[in-house]
Amino acid sequence: MANHDFCTKTMWALSVPLGVLLILFIALTAYATYSFHIFVPIAPNNEIDCAIMFNKSSEDYLTYIENRTLLETTHNDRNCFQIRRRRYLPADLPKSMSGFHNMFFIRVVSKDYDFVEEVLAMMHSPIHFFCFVLDINSEPLFKERMFRLGDCMVNVLVPRELFNTSTAHGTLNAHRRCLREIDEFDWKHAVITAEHDIPLHSTKFLSRRSRRLRDMVEMNGIHFKEETLANANPNDTSSQLFQVSRNWLQHLCSVATISHSQHKVLYDYLLKTPDFDLPNDQHREISVVEQKCDTMKYDVDGSCLYAMEDFSAIRNTTRLFIRADPHYDFGFVQCVHEVVFERTFFDPISNKNANNYLYGSRVNLIDDYRN
Ligand SMILES: *[C@@H]1O[C@H](CO)[C@@H](O)[C@H](O)[C@H]1NC(C)=O
Ligand SMILES: *[C@@H]1O[C@H](CO)[C@@H](O)[C@H](O)[C@H]1NC(C)=O
Ligand SMILES: *[C@@H]1O[C@H](CO)[C@@H](O)[C@H](O)[C@H]1NC(C)=O
Ligand SMILES: *[C@@H]1O[C@H](CO)[C@@H](O)[C@H](O)[C@H]1NC(C)=O
Ligand SMILES: *[C@@H]1O[C@H](CO)[C@@H](O)[C@H](O)[C@H]1NC(C)=O
Repeated sequence: MANHDFCTKTMWALSVPLGVLLILFIALTAYATYSFHIFVPIAPNNEIDCAIMFNKSSEDYLTYIENRTLLETTHNDRNCFQIRRRRYLPADLPKSMSGFHNMFFIRVVSKDYDFVEEVLAMMHSPIHFFCFVLDINSEPLFKERMFRLGDCMVNVLVPRELFNTSTAHGTLNAHRRCLREIDEFDWKHAVITAEHDIPLHSTKFLSRRSRRLRDMVEMNGIHFKEETLANANPNDTSSQLFQVSRNWLQHLCSVATISHSQHKVLYDYLLKTPDFDLPNDQHREISVVEQKCDTMKYDVDGSCLYAMEDFSAIRNTTRLFIRADPHYDFGFVQCVHEVVFERTFFDPISNKNANNYLYGSRVNLIDDYRN
């Protein structure tokens, strides 16, 4: 009897740690399942073998150059599910991949819905915000699809108001509409880009880089401190701020990083400088074109349009964004998407793995991933 009692007591004593272990085990399994679910991104859909495109003497590359992939328009979607099925736009990501510094990406758009979606998929991360403000000349179908995209994604904003972005002030007012849209939200830096800019780095890389700017504003790679902005005189056309911001506007606002604390001061200043017409399809900038442009193709503002010829060289550029034309070489955009995808999901901080891929060691993680 004493023995039996002893047994029961031991069983009871044991059942407590066992129960704790069991609960821990269940919790861990649940966490692992959940993590597995959110840690596995879906690689971009791309029919080109991008790793071969680094070898400019390979047959695949030469064949591609003869017959480039162009942007194909998808059918209008009926619901959000169709967008989610086509694109990987996760609603949750480990912090190690998305970063802690909330960013706000803003651009004016007017056409090519599928290109907008592709670039959004390259940059998307659930903790950051994206605002697309539409030009007044946008086609009805483009507007409809953009508004749906905004309605489907919580962190994608598409204001219903349209702007005439053919002038500097029209474009600035369009950006300001976005900046006001979530003003009360604690975003830290806004990145303004042009319609055809594509990123070369992960959003996390951009967010870490922006964090170092603190309260400064960066336009065309030049930094402006708080004091400079506070004391800026819009009538002084000889100031560096005037010259740089004018140049930035002429290049369709590509690229600026603006701290939350300075966006009001900056835009108040910019809207007091004289208004002027921006380059567009009817009115192209041909006098100041970008130097050393392999493709000899230029955007309306004279910026070089990069294409597959440049794919092997992008590993050496320190630029954050480059311009590309989806109607000239969309395959290049898709290949850059692969590079950015690797940088985002396989090595968001050091980019080491992606650099292996870029440096031609043919360690192409995406291929392993797809199999
Ligand atoms: C590039 O392609 C050519 C032709 O197919 C091949 O001879 C060469 O070895 C390739 N170079 C590299 C680095 O793979
Ligand atoms: C160009 O490529 C497309 C798709 O890869 C193919 O269907 C088409 O036949 C090619 N055209 C030429 C002229 O090679
Ligand atoms: C946009 O503004 C420009 C310049 O002020 C003007 O010429 C053009 O007609 C306007 N476009 C529309 C659609 O209002
Ligand atoms: C700039 O010039 C305008 C008109 O000439 C004048 O009204 C304004 O006060 C000037 N602003 C500054 C800051 O000097
Ligand atoms: C890029 O940089 C690497 C290493 O510095 C160099 O070997 C290579 O030739 C460069 N490529 C281009 C296209 O400039």
